[in-house]
Amino acid sequence: MKTVKVKIIGAGSIGNHLAQACRRMDWDVVVVDRDRAALDRMRNDLYPSRYGRWDARIELRVSAEEPRGGFDIICIGTPPDARMGLAVRALEERPKILQLEKPLCCPTLEGLDLFLSRYGAQRETIAVVGYDHAVSQAVSAVLERLDSGWAGEIATVDVEFREHWDGIFKAHPWLSGPRDSYLGFWSRGGGAGGEHSHALHLWQLFAGRAGLGRWRQVSAVMAMEQAGGADYDSLCAFSFVTDRGKVGRVVQDVVTSPPRKCARLQGSEGFIEWICNGHAKGDMVCYGRAGKDPVEEVYPKTRPDDFYREMDHLRELLEKRISPEQSPISLDSGVAVMQVLATAHRHRNGTAEIPSAPYTSR
Ligand SMILES: NC(=O)c1ccc[n+]([C@@H]2O[C@H](COP(=O)([O-])OP(=O)(O)OC[C@H]3O[C@@H](n4cnc5c(N)ncnc54)[C@H](O)[C@@H]3O)[C@@H](O)[C@H]2O)c1
Repeated sequence: MKTVKVKIIGAGSIGNHLAQACRRMDWDVVVVDRDRAALDRMRNDLYPSRYGRWDARIELRVSAEEPRGGFDIICIGTPPDARMGLAVRALEERPKILQLEKPLCCPTLEGLDLFLSRYGAQRETIAVVGYDHAVSQAVSAVLERLDSGWAGEIATVDVEFREHWDGIFKAHPWLSGPRDSYLGFWSRGGGAGGEHSHALHLWQLFAGRAGLGRWRQVSAVMAMEQAGGADYDSLCAFSFVTDRGKVGRVVQDVVTSPPRKCARLQGSEGFIEWICNGHAKGDMVCYGRAGKDPVEEVYPKTRPDDFYREMDHLRELLEKRISPEQSPISLDSGVAVMQVLATAHRHRNGTAEIPSAPYTSR
């Protein structure tokens, strides 16, 4: 197979992770950013400090010199409020895969309809959303155990992504706080709702596979912060009722330290838990039945491995080993998360119906 050509837009934290994962796949990579300082930072600081040394085979370009056309994969790793405009433009290049970082867009849903209509009008590109945990080894192990029926009939699913965002600001020392970027504004895709939307995404993945159905109604409680001109949710708790009348819960926050990122699926015969970084060596899956000692399995990984796994998933899509509908990070799954966030923000501290899927018109 000829070398896969990748263009990554955004040379920030995620742009570095995605570029390194692509190079591990031995793919050709061009990284584009509108800010020359971000490209310099990537080459001289972020990339070498994270991965040991700069990789001179990564091409860096400012937006004015962006190469267009001929890419197998285009990744949009910019802040959420720039994503939809860039995604519409990227579709014109007809990449085989368009990887859109999470959250897909802003909870205002600005630009989403236009993108979805352009996407629906062509068939060459498969769009996916960057919820990398959904294709991790540990989550795959949970799904396999679930599919085997080991836990019996699943009654409920709980997912939490609770992590103080100090870590994010340490990775962005040029920001003095939330108000300096989209992170401090819920309407731009920041706050706990957007930043930790991995939890919403995993909830719908687990609930769907467990037979609980699709979320139909959400009740959302949010702690809003407005200090220093910012405007974001520091904590949000979502309760869901599905179209099969099942109930479940998601909590996301940017205040919990040390972090707690986990999921629990409770069935009639037993439980299955996923604990992100639950072990010094990586993720943990834990399962058990009442009255018996639980079993713990460790899935060793580092943070860069998460993105390597994601790229491996994109390779499977490229090679048509799996269909877009089978992908745990399908575009539809990313739109569904945005529908929940949009509904929750419109009805903060209330209950409302979530627009129904599918959202993509292919
Ligand atoms: N999947 C994950 O686990 C994961 C991890 C980190 C970040 N993310 C997501 O990735 C996105 C970016 O986060 P980040 O931490 O890398 O942000 P960042 O601020 O570090 O980097 C974003 C970069 O995009 C560039 N940019 C902005 N608008 C642009 C445009 N129109 N054209 C070209 N470049 C442009 C900026 O100059 C900046 O260098 C966010 O949505 C975030 O949630 C996902």
